[in-house]
Amino acid sequence: MIVVQDLTKQYAGRTAVDHVSFQVEPGEIVGFLGPNGAGKSTTMRMLTGYIPPTSGRATVNGFDVYHQSIQVRRSVGYMPEMAPLYTDMRVKEYLRFRAELKGLSGSVLRHRVGEVMDMCAITDVRRRLIGNLSKGYRQRVALADALVHKPPLLILDEPTNGLDPVQIRQVRDLLRSLRPAHTILLSTHILQEVEAVCDRVLMIHQGRIRAVDTPDNLTRKLRAASLVQIEMQGDGDVIALLEALPGVRKATQDSELDGWRFISLRVEARHDVREALADLALIQKWKIRELHRQLPSLEDVFVDLAASEPGK
Ligand SMILES: Nc1ncnc2c1ncn2[C@@H]1O[C@H](COP(=O)(O)OP(=O)(O)O)[C@@H](O)[C@H]1O
Ligand SMILES: [Mg+2]
Repeated sequence: MIVVQDLTKQYAGRTAVDHVSFQVEPGEIVGFLGPNGAGKSTTMRMLTGYIPPTSGRATVNGFDVYHQSIQVRRSVGYMPEMAPLYTDMRVKEYLRFRAELKGLSGSVLRHRVGEVMDMCAITDVRRRLIGNLSKGYRQRVALADALVHKPPLLILDEPTNGLDPVQIRQVRDLLRSLRPAHTILLSTHILQEVEAVCDRVLMIHQGRIRAVDTPDNLTRKLRAASLVQIEMQGDGDVIALLEALPGVRKATQDSELDGWRFISLRVEARHDVREALADLALIQKWKIRELHRQLPSLEDVFVDLAASEPGK
């Protein structure tokens, strides 16, 4: 359904998307996961024909995104990151206008607009001005817009951004219900999001694909390294002793203040070194006034993954 080969985008000499290649098969729900600035939106804009690639190529539903952008747009329901909604139109009026632009008319149009308003739970605000709606409602109007012409492929840029937990669940259920008639590529910077709905995940960081995997495998990897922070007093080769603990990949002293040493430990997957560390401190007569485990941010994980997979 989507075939991407060496797709690259440079903005004023800076590379936002760097030789990205991947495929999405019909009926799949694929998550595009990466921290802010990773290149998700840029890739999606190229796939929907809104900006041209600098190099490389992509086809959507068999159409070239650059040379056949009209056919591409017909095949795709695109929900951009900043949905350019007409704020002085009413919801139903807006969706009718959009449906008409996408080639629907008459009773088919009326019926379909009613249907997508129900699917996206916006029927109760159909007469409200879009400009007066909450972010959650606006997101769902944008989703209804993406769905209105029953495109085989949906490209959704952070579709649950700005929604509350109840609305997030509604959108997830809706996306699942669209399977298998629709193929979906959705972007997110939230790991739980891909676990909840996706069959497969593409991880992108600094414009490059870092991993392609199932959500299960990915979660296992992402729980990989954690960070333990210690404030302690102690003599001897503290760093070497800490690094000798099973599971500790690296110990670094970040600073020292009034005799207290601030040390960070990078810890392997599925290891919690805090108990062993407390035992060691007892034996070595170290004083510990803080011991804190910090699960890594998505950004940390990406950096870590990139470092641990040379050549990727
Ligand atoms: N129109 C633009 N002009 C210049 N740089 C841009 C533009 N859009 C995005 N960028 C840059 O490209 C990189 C990727 O951005 P983006 O695709 O929006 O990432 P994401 O959607 O993953 O947060 C970022 O460094 C961003 O600052
Ligand atoms: Mg984005």
